[in-house]
Amino acid sequence: MNEITIIKPDDWHLHFRDQEMLLETVPATARCFERAVVMPNLMPPVTTAELAVAYRERILAARPAGSSFTPVMTIYLTDKTSVQDIKDAKAAGVLAAKMYPAGATTNSDSGVNSLESLYPVFEALADNDMLLLIHGEVTQKHIDIFDREKEFIDQHMVKIVERVPNLKVVFEHITTKDAADFVLAAREGVAATITPQHLMLNRNDMLDGGIRPHNYCLPVLKRSTHQEALRAVVKSGSHKFFLGTDSAPHAKHRKESDCGCAGCYSAWSALELYTQVFDELGALDKLEGFASLYGADFYGLPRNTDTVTLVREAWEVPTSIMLSTGEPIVPFFAGKQVAWKLKSA
Ligand code: DOR
Ligand code: ZN
Repeated sequence: MNEITIIKPDDWHLHFRDQEMLLETVPATARCFERAVVMPNLMPPVTTAELAVAYRERILAARPAGSSFTPVMTIYLTDKTSVQDIKDAKAAGVLAAKMYPAGATTNSDSGVNSLESLYPVFEALADNDMLLLIHGEVTQKHIDIFDREKEFIDQHMVKIVERVPNLKVVFEHITTKDAADFVLAAREGVAATITPQHLMLNRNDMLDGGIRPHNYCLPVLKRSTHQEALRAVVKSGSHKFFLGTDSAPHAKHRKESDCGCAGCYSAWSALELYTQVFDELGALDKLEGFASLYGADFYGLPRNTDTVTLVREAWEVPTSIMLSTGEPIVPFFAGKQVAWKLKSA
């Protein structure tokens, strides 16, 4: 197959950032995605309905002319989030809340320290038909960084899913066989997003032959057996797994540093790279479900009706993207060939 047309996809997890950066990130995503779930880890974080509404306006203002792209807004849970905050968010059209364990990743310092005390908030999310989006890694420093996702499942995920049985939970950007198996075995109402980098790469791609900071993200890339498990699960066509790029831009100097930031800015190539992965797996027939159907179904939103077409045509990801501020960003897969290209949206 040299060409594939699918229902227009959505990105169920990304980082747009704010201010001038929106002029780069919003058009990059709007070129092929109809909707995107926008992460709230700004500085300061988007913790309330009011902040989410204002952020939505800034995103809408950055859309290319004529674009119908729609951001799906989230709020950031802290130790102080109240049931009223959830009700207010619902009333403002916010669909989900993001839970970062404090210190787990970029801009997560205001995240949750005591998960136990958040159960009333989790109940409120369920009562208001909102989703809980989880960064599933423990933050205990004595736990090996490669084991933090599995530990989170054992310490917290099992409990959350059991104790609030009607809560929809998205296990974000899963990276391990443990997470894939957990989601497969979990009750309905539990799903996961998977990034292009975790399908395409393993930790050798970050560490073998030199440190490659542009492949560093969190949760960190794992060994190849985990990568293979993620590939197997998307190949299976399970409706519990859907597209979430976790596209997360950082300025070049923040990545290429003695303490580099986590995040891969994949918006310009993500859809094409997912297509490449499904092609490699001999599973192009499963791409549409993953990219365009299962996420909308899980969120309880209508499926898109437009289509996009991808063609088998090699192109090279630029080595650098210049922001209007004059700061360069190195995109994910910079300087590398991609086998599929977006033809029309
Ligand atoms: O790699 C990551 N980057 N993982 C996250 O969880 C956050 C994100 C970011 O905001 O840069
Ligand atoms: Zn993210």
